[in-house]
Amino acid sequence: MSSEHRDGYDARAIYNSRYRTSNYQDAYYDTPIPRNVNSIVISALKAADNIIASGSNRKLRVLDFGCGDGRYRAAAYEIAKRVRTHGIDVELVAYDVSDGGLDSFKAKLREEGFGVNFTRDNLSVSFVLGSVDSSDIEKNKIAIGNVDVSSAIFGVISHIPGRKNRVNTLRMLKEVTDGDVIITAPGWRILSKEFQHHKKLRESGSPYKLATEPGDLYYKAKGGTENFYHVYWYKHELIGELAEAGLKGKVSIAKIGHETTLSYRPRTVGFVDELVSYFAYNYLPEKASEYLAGYYLAKMHDKEKSVTHVVPGGLAQQYINDICCLSQIRSHL
Ligand SMILES: C[S@@+](CC[C@H](N)C(=O)[O-])C[C@H]1O[C@@H](n2cnc3c(N)ncnc32)[C@H](O)[C@@H]1O
Repeated sequence: MSSEHRDGYDARAIYNSRYRTSNYQDAYYDTPIPRNVNSIVISALKAADNIIASGSNRKLRVLDFGCGDGRYRAAAYEIAKRVRTHGIDVELVAYDVSDGGLDSFKAKLREEGFGVNFTRDNLSVSFVLGSVDSSDIEKNKIAIGNVDVSSAIFGVISHIPGRKNRVNTLRMLKEVTDGDVIITAPGWRILSKEFQHHKKLRESGSPYKLATEPGDLYYKAKGGTENFYHVYWYKHELIGELAEAGLKGKVSIAKIGHETTLSYRPRTVGFVDELVSYFAYNYLPEKASEYLAGYYLAKMHDKEKSVTHVVPGGLAQQYINDICCLSQIRSHL
């Protein structure tokens, strides 16, 4: 298998064509979702509190798996700002299968004042051009090293065809991460028309290309590129994959609408979406809340490794206090 292909699925070519197309660089993909940023920052600051408590002067390392063109760099900026006065350096490991995405990420960093080696103050960004076979634990342990926190945001995992391959990739993330692993993944409301179409094809015995397993589909992305996606129709399907990879934690509803309702302007729509998601998750029975699921937010950790908690008075606690009341609710979801 070449580094770009998995069973004929060329994720690198698909994403390169997207990231190298100028109309892809719009507000939709340039606005990070606040709750996702908060989750990453809080998990990283919990790890920073541990570093401070241990008296070590080691770097805090954060992995953005499937970083694309760096939409979530805002989280790294916030983390670096908050640990700077404690003398901690931060390294963001930006991993993607698309060199087009990484090139675009690098260009943004240069525009934002990063110098040679992509370093600015106490934050440095290193890049890993991954292979489509992202589950290779030994190879990735070398390429990524050990990280304190990792994230795979905006359905990155869903772009991996084959349940076995997704579980292996999640296991790889677990293996390289000491603290939290944060993932967002689509629920049934995302691409439901395509979901039904591919379900019918499977039932008729003629699945389309790699869409052979329940939840698999193809959709046409912006610019007409055909792309593979896996939707978790039921929450337990996602929990099952995470558990098989050795990850446990909390899977909540991150949003009820399409991704645009959280990332696109006007912000008010996203705000309402977050509120409804919060109440659905906390006050509706699981079946009913699942019915509303657009995207899930999974905050997981290795079943075997010790979990870091929010230290009273620590950096994570301060961040939770600093963000507004609604964000406090969000970050605890
Ligand atoms: C929907 S985009 C999300 C990008 C970014 N996380 C964001 O929120 O804007 C999915 C990303 O996953 C990457 N990707 C797809 N398959 C991958 C794999 N097997 N390993 C790593 N990255 C992958 C794509 O290149 C793309 O950048």
